[in-house]
Amino acid sequence: MRVFSTCLVLFIAGVCRIAAREALHPASVDLLSEGRILIPKNNHNGWVNPEDLTPMPQCIAQQDQSAWLSTITRCTSRQCTSHFGFICTHHQWLTQLSCLSIGFSANVIKGYLPYCSRSVLAKAQLYLWIRHVTGRTWLVDVGDTNGLQTLSPASLDEGYAVFDVMHAAPKCLTGSASALSMELFQQVVASCSFTSTTQHTGNSARPWEYSESLQSIIALDSETVGYNLAGRNIRYGNYFDKSCFCGTFSVDAKKEPCSGLGEIDVTRERLWMNATCGPTSIPKNWTDALNTTEFAYIPIEDWHWPKCITDMPKQLIELTGQCATNACQLNSGGYCKVVRAVDRACFCRDIRYNSCRGLCQIFETRIDYVKWLHDLCGNLQDWHGLPENWRQLAVPTPLDMIPWRWTLKSSKHSHTASITHSGSIKETCPSTAWKLGSLALINIATFLAAFIGRRPDIHNIARSFLGPPHPRCWFFTGISIATLQILANWVNVLLVQQTLGYENVPVVQLMLLWCSMPRLSWLTTLLSGVQVFEGMKFGTTTSSLFAEIILQVLSSYYMIRTVNYGREHDFYLRGMEGAKRATSAKSVYAGALLWLIIVIVVLVQLLQATCRRLTGDKSTAVTKWERRKRTKQNMVKQLMVLFNERWTWFEEKIAHYWIEKSRGLVPTSSMTSEEGNYTVYGTLPVGGERNQVSQKVSARLYVVTVLTMLLLWIAQWLFWAGFIGLSLDEFCPPKLGVLTTVWMAFSLASTTIGSV
Ligand SMILES: *[C@@H]1O[C@H](CO)[C@@H](O)[C@H](O)[C@H]1NC(C)=O
Ligand SMILES: *[C@@H]1O[C@H](CO)[C@@H](O)[C@H](O)[C@H]1NC(C)=O
Ligand SMILES: *[C@@H]1O[C@H](CO)[C@@H](O)[C@H](O)[C@H]1NC(C)=O
Repeated sequence: MRVFSTCLVLFIAGVCRIAAREALHPASVDLLSEGRILIPKNNHNGWVNPEDLTPMPQCIAQQDQSAWLSTITRCTSRQCTSHFGFICTHHQWLTQLSCLSIGFSANVIKGYLPYCSRSVLAKAQLYLWIRHVTGRTWLVDVGDTNGLQTLSPASLDEGYAVFDVMHAAPKCLTGSASALSMELFQQVVASCSFTSTTQHTGNSARPWEYSESLQSIIALDSETVGYNLAGRNIRYGNYFDKSCFCGTFSVDAKKEPCSGLGEIDVTRERLWMNATCGPTSIPKNWTDALNTTEFAYIPIEDWHWPKCITDMPKQLIELTGQCATNACQLNSGGYCKVVRAVDRACFCRDIRYNSCRGLCQIFETRIDYVKWLHDLCGNLQDWHGLPENWRQLAVPTPLDMIPWRWTLKSSKHSHTASITHSGSIKETCPSTAWKLGSLALINIATFLAAFIGRRPDIHNIARSFLGPPHPRCWFFTGISIATLQILANWVNVLLVQQTLGYENVPVVQLMLLWCSMPRLSWLTTLLSGVQVFEGMKFGTTTSSLFAEIILQVLSSYYMIRTVNYGREHDFYLRGMEGAKRATSAKSVYAGALLWLIIVIVVLVQLLQATCRRLTGDKSTAVTKWERRKRTKQNMVKQLMVLFNERWTWFEEKIAHYWIEKSRGLVPTSSMTSEEGNYTVYGTLPVGGERNQVSQKVSARLYVVTVLTMLLLWIAQWLFWAGFIGLSLDEFCPPKLGVLTTVWMAFSLASTTIGSV
């Protein structure tokens, strides 16, 4: 001791320690190692230097240590360690090991054990100390250390938590005392704490010392409980044993430490206890009033507005500020992280569907708004802010799916209908069947006219009126046919306009729309074509085709508009899912698209044909095409080639049939060959190889033309049938019978002109 104190003056602590050790105990000291009782080797007949004893365990250091210290003190006395003859040259305070093993009796340990056995790790640490110092393998009763020799992570029943979770606990909880033991929260946590590996809290080189002034052994160091006792390494840090904490600390369900303090402390406290000790540690119905962002609160950063925010009233937008509050966001461990959030119930209290008008009630932005509103408030009890039919508002309505915004209905009609619920004065819209029927009637009229016009006697009568056909007449005839059709539409628009309540119909729009009605022009063309080959007429095909082109150009306005509208609103993919009358709408959009595709294909073919004719080197084009075909021979191409071959064969067949048929008629024909120079479709065979070829070309063109018109007719039927089904009350032409009659009459007239 004396040597040591001298040392302390002369050297810094570390050097001193080595010097002292070397002076006193040349032999090295075996420290505690697994499974063996180790006693310092420099043992003077059973007496050891107290500083060689293992440091104090954590659970003893956290309690009143007086009994512990006095036990060691009793076994410590001043001993002579160096003799010169009979004279003692060196005295030292040493502790007698055999005395310690008697001193640390079950009685002494008993007082410390309840606290030390809260955590299995702390108990194991105590056990190792006792075994080391006294050689005993039990603490108070034989067998009370079973299982402590072989700890594993599973020995911590409920696992452990990292100390950082204390930040998630509110002050009212960390400052409270356990309901049962009245022990403070912080103390309980301390008794259950451990570190990743055993650590020293003081002078690790000199854990014990005999203080002559106090006449007692004092502890200069203690060791923390390390998780390495469980045979596993964990990340550096402080932890606590959950089963130790939860078994010791309890919350009074009737008088929670944080209740009545408002804010979100109750939520924080309950979540903390639930996450640490599970739901049994807190009142049964605790989840009822949690202020968490699970549902009742929406974190500000997750808040979003619908697209129609520009049309939202200011007070609605300010509502988020008024309803903002603190709420708990659960982290992965189930603890609370306080965030700013919007109180859902508070916000929803003041909002309903009609709170926002304008954009919020128009088509896509309306759908977005309704979905937003439903997601936000739909699950709240007692919230009825959406109209009954909100599901229909959340998908495109039939009106949304009509590609234009004007409607054809009586302005009076809507008023009377809304005033008299009984419907006594209600003006009825023509039924769908009637609308479709009138469309069919017009077609049938054309059909009949085409057939009648084909009969030679009628034909001759008509001709006598109109005079003999002139070769160039097809142009004027075509114009006349088209004009008659347009005129019919115009007359009908006027008729509609004359009707009460329909004064404001958009004239041009309605006329254009009616131009897209399906007409049986393909049949007329077909029949007149047959006539051509029968030698009766030519030029008629051209004229009816010309009229058809004019009318199709006019109908292109609505067709293209429809396709474009459908594309803009995603109707061609999935925009119509779940919508009312979706089948009709699909028919409208499919019809318009089919129409457009046919027109584009025809135009492209026409362009190609023109180019080929202009450049004139058909052969090189073919070889080029052949070469390209060879380089890119994939499935699609092959199929196309196959189709083309079949198609050409089919065309050839028809052409052949007609040529054969007409060949017999050549002598009776009074044709001039000039005819073929400017009429593409009306050429007649005059004989000779050159004419044979041009006949073939004409016949093929003719077949293609009729087919194209047939397809366009189908597309227009699709469009119109769909439109009638889709619009229902939004398209109510008045006096439909009269209108139909007008159309039929004009159809008859134009067909007759066409066939002459
Ligand atoms: C409460 O804790 C349990 C598990 O201990 C967990 O499953 C549950 O989600 C927690 N409840 C809440 C509201 O956090
Ligand atoms: C929990 O239930 C008890 C009765 O069982 C009731 O008095 C108390 O108000 C409930 N607490 C909450 C938050 O609903
Ligand atoms: C949630 O917050 C509101 C308002 O701040 C408060 O009135 C209510 O008591 C809180 N609920 C809980 C369980 O803390």
